[in-house]
Amino acid sequence: MLKGRHLIEPGDFEIDEIESIMQLADKIIANPEDYSMVCKGKLLASLFYEPSTRTRFSFEAAMLRLGGQLIGFDDPNTSSVSKGESLGDTIKTIGCYADIAVIRHPREGTAKLVSQYADEMPIINAGDGGHEHPTQTLTDILTIRNYKGGCNNHVVGVCGDLLFGRTIHSLVKTLNRYENIRFVFISPKELKMPEHILTYLSPDCYTETNNLDEVIGDLDILYMSRVQRERFVNEEEYLRLKNYYILDKKKMKKAKQDMIVMHPLPRVNEIAQEVDDDSRAVYFKQAKMGMYVRMALIAKLLGVEDKND
Ligand code: NCD
Repeated sequence: MLKGRHLIEPGDFEIDEIESIMQLADKIIANPEDYSMVCKGKLLASLFYEPSTRTRFSFEAAMLRLGGQLIGFDDPNTSSVSKGESLGDTIKTIGCYADIAVIRHPREGTAKLVSQYADEMPIINAGDGGHEHPTQTLTDILTIRNYKGGCNNHVVGVCGDLLFGRTIHSLVKTLNRYENIRFVFISPKELKMPEHILTYLSPDCYTETNNLDEVIGDLDILYMSRVQRERFVNEEEYLRLKNYYILDKKKMKKAKQDMIVMHPLPRVNEIAQEVDDDSRAVYFKQAKMGMYVRMALIAKLLGVEDKND
């Protein structure tokens, strides 16, 4: 039962609970009109203390497509945060008005912290610093299910900024709970997967390399990511690393015919635009999956998914 629960990191949900969200997302994709009023009279608060395009718009579109309404901000300077209000007080106040809240914040652990102040209102973590991004993981899982037929038995290449990429941390920990997944971590040595993620994995289920060309032919899924400029303390280091990988047509020639290329977006230079037309590039379809999966998640957390059944 997901009603009333918080989603701070993907580990908050069992695999069968994640599966139930996927099944609802599939039903919504098949018959969106059946769900167009299930959130009538419900209010979602969207609190974005950090820039966002897909996550915020997909949450807002999701709530509106379920017949619900929105309050919130995407510029904390327009709220009482700018007067020095604590996050705890902000969230207690929002809990007086809204039924569910989504929060993105640059500081690791913020979503967890505010969930302790929200008694009745489910809190969804939309990204806390370099830590976790569970709804991107739900998006990724739905994409893999729909474009690779399921989440078991894949060789998954994860390429780019493995150190700071929160979408990567959440995805790797989650895919590791499926069967027969092998990871190939591809990064410059400065941006390697942190130890605290590697400790979740058995040493025989992953390899590490800095050479995308050498391994691309082995992969079923290639998950690209941008170098996370905003998390660097040293801009020169960022500039040196930002173009380390550029996936182009030439590299794609070495990949399997049924490999899929994913990316949480935004992309900077790590995938050349010429790859967009390749049928294996699914990153914009993935962005669309994000809206459907968030519709399913909101409906589940509010316990309204069966209203029209
Ligand atoms: C990601 C994020 O915010 O972590 N974007 C997203 O939510 N789709 C990835 C990124 O910013 O690189």
